[in-house]
Amino acid sequence: MRLIVTDMNLGLWAAAYVKEKINSFRPTSDKPFVLGLPTGGTMVDFYANLRLFYKEGLLDFKHVVTFNMDEYAGLPADHPQSYCSYMQRHLFQEVNIPRQNIHLLNSQSSNYTEECNRYEQVIRSYGGIDLFVGGVGRNGHIAFNEPGSSLESRTRKVELTASTRQANARFFLNDMNRVPTHALTVGIGTIFEAKELLFLAAGAKKAAAVAHFSRPGISAECPLTILKKHPYATLLVDPSAFSLVEGTPKKVLEQMTQTAPDAAHWALELKEEQL
Ligand code: GLP
Repeated sequence: MRLIVTDMNLGLWAAAYVKEKINSFRPTSDKPFVLGLPTGGTMVDFYANLRLFYKEGLLDFKHVVTFNMDEYAGLPADHPQSYCSYMQRHLFQEVNIPRQNIHLLNSQSSNYTEECNRYEQVIRSYGGIDLFVGGVGRNGHIAFNEPGSSLESRTRKVELTASTRQANARFFLNDMNRVPTHALTVGIGTIFEAKELLFLAAGAKKAAAVAHFSRPGISAECPLTILKKHPYATLLVDPSAFSLVEGTPKKVLEQMTQTAPDAAHWALELKEEQL
């Protein structure tokens, strides 16, 4: 587990990291790179940089398979705020990913349980996810796993909290009533099974969730804390998101290490002036 605080653009950092991972993996049609993908405001720069790398010939999506983490239930796929539309706009229609390599949860399925089980099966059929990139909700949610979700949860339909609908109202003409009440999401257990995790938290609105993360313990009250248990997880934050973390870097690192002593790598990387 690594907690990295940087004032570099998080989207650029993450895109460069993903590029290196894909390129060093040397994917082929028989052995594609399986990438879990998020949506949200934080990720706009991430996708802009992935598109740039593609245009510059530094990244090829031909043998990349993707799984998106979540989708609003009931929102038509062609609604401008569906995560399907978001992904088309920000990545899929701009790069050479084959259509059959793209996997999204079907928000209009007539049977959500079957749809969620199907998604889990398809992930398994690829041997799991190599790298899951994710964002963080203001309340510490990951994908749409709201506080209180089981740490073992699988892909399922969930009810969104009022605070998440309020936070996402900015994408729906600032009207919370237009934000869907439910979503389909991969579970915390599904995310945890990925071989590697890279989560991003940017801005002061994420500071409470990052502060919760930095305190001892792993708890369903802050789904983000599950990262502490994963041997190959990185939480990448900017200084504003780190601003409510209390204690010296040494103390923070000690607290996190105590929580999950078995996690293979522990590091807290800070900007020089924060050391
Ligand atoms: C939504 C998504 C999450 C994402 C979160 C943060 O709730 N379901 O997967 O992490 O938004 O988004 P933003 O970057 O816009 O703050």
